[in-house]
Amino acid sequence: MLEVIILAAGQGSRMQSSLPKVLHTLAGQPLVAHVLQTARQIMADAIHVVVGHGAQAVKAAVAAPDVQCHLQAEQRGTGHAVAQAIGACDPNSTVLVLFGDVPLISKAVLTDVVAASASGVAMLSAYLEDPTGYGRVVRDQDGEFTAVVEEKDASPEQRRLQEINTGVLAANAEKLAAWLGRVDNHNAQSEYYLPDVLRLAREDGVPVTVACSDNDFNVQGVNTPQQLEALERRHQQVLADELMTGGVLIADRSRLDVRGRLQCGRDVSIDVNVIFEGDVALGDGVSIGANCMVRDAAIGAGAQILPFSHVEGAEVQAGAVIGPYARLRPGAVIGEQAKVGNFVEVKNARLGFAAKANHLAYLGDADIGEHSNVGAGTITCNYDGANKHRTTLGENVFVGSNSTLVAPVTIESGGFVAAGSTVTSDVAPDQLAVARGRQRNIDGWRRPTKSGDAD
Ligand code: UD1
Ligand code: CA
Repeated sequence: MLEVIILAAGQGSRMQSSLPKVLHTLAGQPLVAHVLQTARQIMADAIHVVVGHGAQAVKAAVAAPDVQCHLQAEQRGTGHAVAQAIGACDPNSTVLVLFGDVPLISKAVLTDVVAASASGVAMLSAYLEDPTGYGRVVRDQDGEFTAVVEEKDASPEQRRLQEINTGVLAANAEKLAAWLGRVDNHNAQSEYYLPDVLRLAREDGVPVTVACSDNDFNVQGVNTPQQLEALERRHQQVLADELMTGGVLIADRSRLDVRGRLQCGRDVSIDVNVIFEGDVALGDGVSIGANCMVRDAAIGAGAQILPFSHVEGAEVQAGAVIGPYARLRPGAVIGEQAKVGNFVEVKNARLGFAAKANHLAYLGDADIGEHSNVGAGTITCNYDGANKHRTTLGENVFVGSNSTLVAPVTIESGGFVAAGSTVTSDVAPDQLAVARGRQRNIDGWRRPTKSGDAD
């Protein structure tokens, strides 16, 4: 049996934030969610999460049928944290400890550490250019592991060591529990340090295997906003690189953010400063202009999202053109070849094949038929202050500029609404609706003049 214990109880005081550290996000997901995902990938039989600081919020973030949470009421160190969960593990299990603030730890390296623990205890180290803040791996003259020394306890000489403890450790549950029982807190931070079990294992003659990661970026911990930003940027570059390997044309890998899952077809191009969130699928030949935000959306083949558009919870079908400066809100379905132009907001509305709303409009709770044209300044008045109502346009309807369509209302196919109309009743097929004050032109009218003593 393989059981994973994820430590997520710490406050993360160096983040200077009221949010528990493991809930800060990387690529749009809480740090601890990344670790959880990796634990699932290595097929752990049980997953334990130790919560403490902000326990309710952390519990809610990790809640799942395969996760058990254990409360560490007082944060007395990483060893003390593991001790809160170890009792719930099967004594014969192999326990793998992961830190909730080391989000990008990779599946492959964990599999190696678990395998290495078969002969005793295994930990994962790494060489870092800048090891500041990490526990250092101390070795004897023969290069044999002796101990992990925390930076605060390290001598100036030890601080120069560049091999660090990543926090990943694997051992048999029963033995780990026994060593944890012997760990003391006689150190600079008065904490019960998890890596002290490695020293105790050695004292008991149990071999300690140190696996060394060849990737210095997957093992990095997040303790400060600077480290979070650095890791986010590195991670985004890796994601961009993967997309480019798949053929996506990216204008600048340092100006792309993928905060979720992005699937791309062939010949997709993405200009600068684009943010993708949630689940996004881009069909073949889609182009996304500069400065767009696209969240939980499906964009069909050949569709173009022009610069500065905001697309959320929407489906854009093949060949449609959105923007520049368009806003698609949840439930927007833009049909093939349709156009949604600048300063048009669409919510919970369908535009049929080749329908157009080219400028300055609000289309909420509406069905717009094929080839219909919605003029500039048109608004669906979908909300009466209490309830929402639908507006329905048939095929080939023309709505003149600056019209208000007061829902519920239907304009049948071929209907024509004169500019500036307030449409409150249904329009039959091919009818013209004019609903505005009639124009009067008055002859001989004089403009007001200024009164005499105006100075
Ligand atoms: C820890 C290691 C250090 C290692 C580094 C790698 C110890 C004593 N130090 O240092 O050797 O180089 O990680 O990133 O293990 N946590 C709890 N309960 C606690 C304390 C911590 O759950 O009482 C959790 C934190 O939420 C965090 C993780 O354990 O997810 C690590 O704690 P942190 O305080 O960040 O340890 P570091 O100082 O980074
Ligand atoms: Ca840390």
